[in-house]
Amino acid sequence: MIGLVFGPPGSGKGTQASRVAVRLGIPHIAAGDMLRSEVDHDTALGREAKPIMDAGGLVPDDLVVRMINERLNQTDATKGVLLDGFPRTVPQAIMLDVMLKTRNATVDEVIALEVPDDELKTRILKRATTEGRSDDTAEGLAQRLIVYRQDTAPVLEHYREAGTRIDSINGVGDIDAITEGIMEALKRGGVVVGTA
Ligand code: AP5
Repeated sequence: MIGLVFGPPGSGKGTQASRVAVRLGIPHIAAGDMLRSEVDHDTALGREAKPIMDAGGLVPDDLVVRMINERLNQTDATKGVLLDGFPRTVPQAIMLDVMLKTRNATVDEVIALEVPDDELKTRILKRATTEGRSDDTAEGLAQRLIVYRQDTAPVLEHYREAGTRIDSINGVGDIDAITEGIMEALKRGGVVVGTA
C-alpha cells in the first residue's frame, strides 16, 4: 500500500498520517519532519533548506526527491508507506511515479484533508505559542498557503488524471473521528481488509 496524505498547511496531515500508518502497520514518511531533522543536524541539506522553509517556500524538487528515494530504499518501506507532505509539486509527483515503477509499485490512494483557511490559521498560530516552529508565523503561513494553491494543489489533478483513488475527508472536528473516517474510506477502497 502506497498512500499519500494530502492537504494545506495545518490540515492535520502529520496528526492523521502518524495514526493511520500505525493502524496499517506501515511507516509514516513525513517530508517536513525529515527536513527539520536535517536542519537540526546542521547537514548540507538542512543548511540549504532552512531559509526556504522559514520563508514558507518549497525546498528544490531534486533535493527532496533524493531524500525520499533514500528513505524508500530502507527495508521497512518494502511493505508500503504512508507519505505526508510529498509529493508537493507536479514534478515531484512525476518523479515519485518513476521511483515507484522501479519498485513495481504505484500510488494506491490519496487521502485529501479539507480544512478552511480560518481554521488553518487558528491551528498554526496556536501551535506557534506552544512549539515555536520557525515557519509558524502569520507571514510564513500566508506564504505556505500561496505555495500550496499554486504548486501543490495541482498534484491532486495529476492523480485524478492517472485514475488514482482520491478520498476527500473533512479535516475539521474530533481527531479520533477523522481517523475513523479515513480508515472507513480506506476500507471502502479495499486498502484495509477486515477490522484493521
Ligand atoms: P510540513 O512540515 O509538511 O508543513 P505543512 O505542510 O505546512 O504542514 P504542517 O506540518 O504545518 O501541518 P499538517 O497538515 O501536517 O498538520 P498537523 O498534523 O501538523 O513542511 C514544512 C516545510 O518543509 C514546507 O513549508 C517546505 O518548506 C518544506 N517541505 C516539506 N515537504 C516538502 C516537499 N515535498 N517539497 C519541498 N519542500 C518541502 O496539525 C497542525 C496543528 O493542528 C497541530 O498543532 C495539531 O495538533 C493541530 N490539529 C490537527 N488536527 C486537528 C483537529 N482535527 N482539530 C484541531 N487541531 C488539530
